[in-house]
Amino acid sequence: MKVVTTFAELRQARAALPGPVGCVPTMGYLHEGHLSLVRRARTECASVEVSIFVNPTQFGPNEDLDRYPRDLPRDLAMLEAEGVDLVWTPTAAEMYPPGFQTWVTVEKLSQGLEGGARPGHFRGVATVVTKLFHGMLPDRAYFGQKDAQQAAVIRRMTQDLNFPIEIIVCPTVREPDGLAMSSRNVYLNPEERQAATVLFRALNAAEQAYRKGERRAEALRRMAQEAIEAEPLARLHYVSCADYETLEELEKVERKALLSLAVYIGQTRLIDNVVLE
Ligand code: PAJ
Repeated sequence: MKVVTTFAELRQARAALPGPVGCVPTMGYLHEGHLSLVRRARTECASVEVSIFVNPTQFGPNEDLDRYPRDLPRDLAMLEAEGVDLVWTPTAAEMYPPGFQTWVTVEKLSQGLEGGARPGHFRGVATVVTKLFHGMLPDRAYFGQKDAQQAAVIRRMTQDLNFPIEIIVCPTVREPDGLAMSSRNVYLNPEERQAATVLFRALNAAEQAYRKGERRAEALRRMAQEAIEAEPLARLHYVSCADYETLEELEKVERKALLSLAVYIGQTRLIDNVVLE
């Protein structure tokens, strides 16, 4: 497994990889969710590239950039064990050189949900993913359903900018008790970790109602909301039942939909979602 830092080193190493090439962009502190993307890429592609970069431009001024968990030696050992060919760990200085002023904005899709709660977040994501794509030149790129709006934004951007890259979205990997795996779960103390299962329970309650025939989006949102409100350590940030493609809020669920929520457990903000189809 080759590990490179600069764009120049990457370009050289990338040129030597047999295709098709799959890439998995990450911010590191890897867990089974990340590894599921790597394994999927490994089965579908001749070569696999992974990037590890905690992207400053997708964090708001009061967010957790400084304390975002990092452990590069551990990440590299995990990727080596998965048979990854190339790991790129760019520096912020090269990613955002002095005078940087070029951004990629996916307009409407970036506005609601996570974008509404985190102004500028998806501008940072779309810009860095564009740059990661330009560096890694993948044929396929793998993203997690866990970050559903991010996947939608990147799919739209890839079409709009004519990137010759197939975007593959993989299912959310969960802990045995249902909590979606996330690098941010390490922020939870034992009591909060227990309470955090409420996200999955809330989504499950609404999904069960949907399966039994409930199609009123407001009723589904309310069910999830009530489940969250029953957990004393949880504070609901938003709950949404939206069209899967456009992410516009629905009145009735008549086509593929995304039920998603953001919840504070203590100081830690967690997101999760289920697809209704
Ligand atoms: P990060 O949070 O490290 O996630 C990297 C990839 O892993 C994303 O595609 C994310 O959706 C996926 N992922 C995270 N948890 C998952 C889980 N439990 N199951 C399945 N997939 C999961 O998302 C980012 O980094 C950044 O925004 C990035 C795209 C790298 C741009 O900076």
